[in-house]
Amino acid sequence: MDRRARARELAAEYLAKGDPKGWFEQLYREAAAGKSTIPWADRHANPNLVDFWKRNTIQANGKTALAIGCGFGDDAEQLAAWGFKVTAFDISESAIRVCRQRFPGSRVKYTTADLFSSPPEWTRAFDFILESYTLQVLPPQLREPAICCIADFVRRGGHLLIITRARGEEDAPGLMPWPLIDRDLDKVKTCGLRELSFEDYFDLESPPVRRFRALYERCSQTV
Ligand SMILES: C[S@@+](CC[C@H](N)C(=O)[O-])C[C@H]1O[C@@H](n2cnc3c(N)ncnc32)[C@H](O)[C@@H]1O
Repeated sequence: MDRRARARELAAEYLAKGDPKGWFEQLYREAAAGKSTIPWADRHANPNLVDFWKRNTIQANGKTALAIGCGFGDDAEQLAAWGFKVTAFDISESAIRVCRQRFPGSRVKYTTADLFSSPPEWTRAFDFILESYTLQVLPPQLREPAICCIADFVRRGGHLLIITRARGEEDAPGLMPWPLIDRDLDKVKTCGLRELSFEDYFDLESPPVRRFRALYERCSQTV
């Protein structure tokens, strides 16, 4: 059976009833009960993040980082291992519970929060933001608002790294996870961030998956 089948079923069901964010907790609860699996939970840091880190120089020691939609926490732990003071959040309280169980002595601050109504003190508060694979599980109408919320976490001089599934404009959006087109990410630039790099590539998964990986900065001078 397709390991994404249950997630797709739940996503479609919740979308149809006008609750596009409700299925994540449901899926994590089912997984905790052993009734389904979390298709994106690899239980290791994202190789697309690790590969990026090897080839880029970003100051981590003593800096703050925020992991968006952190799932089971592997990327958040990796950021902490690189020296960031990390806050990691997910809309699913069950996912956050698993993070705390998996990493009991962790320095990462794990918390349940909704990207669209996050604590006000997070605004422009972080040096480094990691968004990997959350935008692609949100329906198109939530993408621009999500990007604005994500960009708003970046403090002056801070960076945002986005890693996402990608498609060409001519390709069909397909089934969840819905790959983004490059124009979707233009929104980041209208939220006061400058694009420093943009990669459109196939990763090393089998079969390879087309990705965008883009780094942005909030210029020191911008308000
Ligand atoms: C595809 S998973 C990716 C998880 C993790 N970033 C990874 O790469 O393994 C997307 C995650 O975003 C979370 N999520 C979805 N909508 C969210 C929202 N509005 N606020 C916070 N987290 C959200 C989901 O619960 C899920 O854990």
